[in-house]
Amino acid sequence: MLLNKDTFGEDFSWGVSTAAYQIEGAHNQDGKGPSIWDVFVTKKNKIFQRHHGDIACDFYNRYIDDLYLMYKLNIRHYRFSISWSRILPKGIGEISQKGIDFYNRLIDFSLELGITPWVTLYHWDLPHELELKGGWVNRDIRDWFGHYVSICVQNFGDRVKNWMVLNEPLVFTGAGYFFGVHAPGRKGLDNFLAATHHAALAQAYGGKVIKSIQRDSYVGTTFSCSHVEPFRMREKDILATKKVDALLNRLFIEPLLGKGYPTRDLKILHRIEKYMQPGDERDLKFDMDFIGVQNYTREVIQYSPFVPLLKAKIVHAKKRKVEMTAMNWEVYPESIYHILKKFNAYENIPPIIITENGAAFQDEVQDGRVDDPKRTAYLQQTIAQVWRAKQEGVKIKGYFVWTFLDNFEWAEGYHPRFGLVYVDFPTQQRIIKTSGHWYADFLSTR
Ligand code: BGC
Repeated sequence: MLLNKDTFGEDFSWGVSTAAYQIEGAHNQDGKGPSIWDVFVTKKNKIFQRHHGDIACDFYNRYIDDLYLMYKLNIRHYRFSISWSRILPKGIGEISQKGIDFYNRLIDFSLELGITPWVTLYHWDLPHELELKGGWVNRDIRDWFGHYVSICVQNFGDRVKNWMVLNEPLVFTGAGYFFGVHAPGRKGLDNFLAATHHAALAQAYGGKVIKSIQRDSYVGTTFSCSHVEPFRMREKDILATKKVDALLNRLFIEPLLGKGYPTRDLKILHRIEKYMQPGDERDLKFDMDFIGVQNYTREVIQYSPFVPLLKAKIVHAKKRKVEMTAMNWEVYPESIYHILKKFNAYENIPPIIITENGAAFQDEVQDGRVDDPKRTAYLQQTIAQVWRAKQEGVKIKGYFVWTFLDNFEWAEGYHPRFGLVYVDFPTQQRIIKTSGHWYADFLSTR
């Protein structure tokens, strides 16, 4: 069956996603304060070839052309994030009117083009000043974050209805506070568990703050998820897979749904209790209007006595000799089907929106064109899996491609290209890839 947007019905939102630090550039323009990413990229041996987001796609100065390009590709839903330190250069305290003005212009021009904004409030770029006060390890962050959220909703809520509180909390707490490979580069279990608990409190609190100011808002939050499978059908691998599942897929959704942390399947999580205060269990819960699911691949898990705490490891795609993307992730579109079924099975789960999905491949410009059949095939196959889940009754309401423009891929710098639109960084020229033309066609009204 040939799918197009109409197959999914009128109330299904199709769009693209981006994040402030990955595209905006203008890192110190108009009074923006430094974020933890502005600082992290200056450290040695952290980012591929010492790349940084100082200029990135220069979206801050080019958003008019870029939004117009989006419009020409028939994209009518745009998920972007707000940079906290553009609004509050020090994280708390004085508000930057110029920062507010930028997002006002962005929102207004989107609406003028008939593009609905979907705003993520936190996509990993914490104001550096707040990191100096402990960042996500400091419990006060719940209130700092709530204050910032209230400013955004007060200023933009008359035009923005769709909000996402956090982007992938497991990634910013895991990579940023356990492994130290993302900003702010901190390590260890204590940092990770404290950051996790405070992020879980902030995700619920952020939702409450939005609703208290804007009752008719549509509020969600987003999770990184990967379908997990045991390497071999033996008890040890199955048990290891269960633990990894608790960590990768359940850690943030379950407290939000009022089920608490998945400590039964991941004993180490008991140690999070030392950061909990009376009433926290209740405060972790919030009824979101939707859940944002973000999926890129699956993970295959093996028991490993050498991995401390978890006793489990990922069997990498390279080792399994399967097809891979430029991130060395397995190409496995069926993962999204399993994830959708899994999330949909939770009692009282609200509708699900895929707020990110996409693939990085080595793109090249030839005769002024970028032909990327692998990305097109990946998107088509994934969307077919979304359709399969929808037909089986999964409450799914939208799909956003990651991403619109090639951009700064965090620790990997600019080398993995995820965009529907190619960016030649030295000249800032944009070239629509064949996948971008394919998506435009998929989205055209028949
Ligand atoms: C993040 C994006 C990132 C993408 C691809 C997600 O984890 O939200 O910021 O670029 O995956 O790695």
